[in-house]
Amino acid sequence: MPITIAPSILNADFSRLADEIARVPSADALHVDVMDNHFVPNLTLGLPVVEAIKRCTELPLDLHLMIEDPDRWAPAYAEAGAASVTFHLEAAQAPVRLARELRRLGAKAAIGLNPATAVEAVGPILGQFDMVLLMTVEPGFGGQGFLDLVLPKIKALRRLARAQDLALAVQIDGGVSLETIERAAAAGADSFVAGTAVFKADQPDVMVERLRRAAGLAHREQP
Ligand code: DX5
Ligand code: ZN
Repeated sequence: MPITIAPSILNADFSRLADEIARVPSADALHVDVMDNHFVPNLTLGLPVVEAIKRCTELPLDLHLMIEDPDRWAPAYAEAGAASVTFHLEAAQAPVRLARELRRLGAKAAIGLNPATAVEAVGPILGQFDMVLLMTVEPGFGGQGFLDLVLPKIKALRRLARAQDLALAVQIDGGVSLETIERAAAAGADSFVAGTAVFKADQPDVMVERLRRAAGLAHREQP
């Protein structure tokens, strides 16, 4: 799978979102964090804002739903034109049905796992998904420290996907920076969400390129 960098707008300036998005033209996708104050202790944005973002950028939208009852709410984000929709295993009632619904609506289906959730939990249903998002912080806020305890999970997930001969994207989200991206890529991650590292950089687009290059070099070092 190619290396992809998806800047998270969570730590961008929400009062001038269109300008902020225009600062990362080299991004492979734009990561949009939807939080409902129930699944996580933070509240961000919902469908109307996603529709507005869709109107102001050509970048594919990578939706990350940190919400309860994704079975009910996730399809609308696919209908709004999201390229991929990630819902959390911990919140879903019927993940297989929801994944199929998202694909039917034209989006890539992705499932998110919190740090404490074992990757083996998605083993039997991996073939239903285009991507698995492994949280490398507890979800809810940007700017937290990368959890190295997730590195063995990245390796285990890669092994699971390889055993099933699946072309699965492995995304990590939380604390991704020039300091942490190499070890995640070396473990087998190929899709990287970066909020603070990109939007707090002096030149966000240069940071996107630097992260991509660092990940690409480390990924190639894999045996
Ligand atoms: C956290 C969000 C992340 C967040 C990452 O729950 O899912 O996407 O924006 O931010 P950084 O890169 O600052 O850890
Ligand atoms: Zn996210």
